Amino acid sequence: MAQRSLLGKVRLAARGARSYLGNRPFIVSYEVTLSCTCNCHHCDLGGVLKDEKQVGPEEYAEITRRLKPLVAQISGGEPLLRTDLPAIVRAIKQGGGVPHAIVVTNGVLLDEKNYLELREAGVDQFSISLDFPDERHDEFRRRPGLYRRLEQKLPQLASFGFKDIVLNTAITKANMSEILPLAEKAAEWNVAISYSAYTPLRTNDAGYSISTERNLDSLRGAIRELLIRKKEGANIGNPDVALRGIVSFFEQGYMPNCKAGGRFLIVMPDGSLVPCSLHRTKFASRQDMKRDFSRTNRCGGCYVAIRSYSELPLLWHLKSSGMYLRQTAFRREAVVPARP
Ligand SMILES: C[S@@+](CC[C@H](N)C(=O)[O-])C[C@H]1O[C@@H](n2cnc3c(N)ncnc32)[C@H](O)[C@@H]1O
Ligand code: SF4
Ligand code: SF4
Repeated sequence: MAQRSLLGKVRLAARGARSYLGNRPFIVSYEVTLSCTCNCHHCDLGGVLKDEKQVGPEEYAEITRRLKPLVAQISGGEPLLRTDLPAIVRAIKQGGGVPHAIVVTNGVLLDEKNYLELREAGVDQFSISLDFPDERHDEFRRRPGLYRRLEQKLPQLASFGFKDIVLNTAITKANMSEILPLAEKAAEWNVAISYSAYTPLRTNDAGYSISTERNLDSLRGAIRELLIRKKEGANIGNPDVALRGIVSFFEQGYMPNCKAGGRFLIVMPDGSLVPCSLHRTKFASRQDMKRDFSRTNRCGGCYVAIRSYSELPLLWHLKSSGMYLRQTAFRREAVVPARP
């Protein structure tokens, strides 16, 4: 067992090094549908799309074998709208050989049954969006009852003890005063939390950006406090450099050196490849994308999680490979507990 773990660790580290040195993507985000169960103020998506062209598990396995990412992010739209989601996860993890899979969801459809099913299929982390630590979340997501649901479900799911739930907060002008209360809510629910920065590029609405000196000062204060609490052991998922990056992004209004199309890219519901969720020009291959987009891309208009993580140094990813492996081994060995 120890030997197999070591071998696995070496394989994972080798894949990390190959993706870095061989310029393969660290992270591929699979937007498995652009339909959604919410209609959030900060997002360009919302509602159900009719006749969306969707590829199935076999195509996902084939695409993943071609791209060979270290981390698969399964997102949307709302990924839990796909009834074949467990099969998609299996295809990406087992068929495509991806070491670490994250499902990003608004949590509307998440319950004990699909949580355990998705874990069985190979999900290592559930990233669940939370914008406010109370019912203001419902208004922001235009989904009455959602906060109450999360408040009931997430502590229940956390009580299984798998330590795979991370709240996910996009910081906006509207919720910047809730940065610390949201961290406290995560601790109360026994889950982790991770932050990213609002981009106006989705909706063309600069109203949620943080730009005045007064607001920037409050943001700096909140992030300073998060860094202290993190040192003291609070379960905050962002590396320190990414938390500081959020401040820089709002201060400058942009973040240079984006690696979209290189270190990360998006697979659309129909299986086509695009550089990021905000630049949806389709490319026939990753080579074409790198040549015709990444090399000349000067956009710095967002600092979302996929960007900040894929820009971390190789050493961080190699260290995380150990973490990914431990989580995967833990998941495999875990006996799925009886449902409450
Ligand atoms: C596009 S959603 C897809 C997954 C799922 N529907 C959800 O909301 O978690 C992924 C993440 O993007 C965030 N997001 C949406 N619009 C954004 C924006 N304009 N700037 C930054 N993040 C945004 C959401 O809050 C969510 O955490
Ligand atoms: S942020 Fe997520 S939940 Fe909200 S509209 Fe966009 S895709 Fe849907
Ligand atoms: S900064 Fe990069 S990831 Fe963000 S919108 Fe621009 S090209 Fe896309």
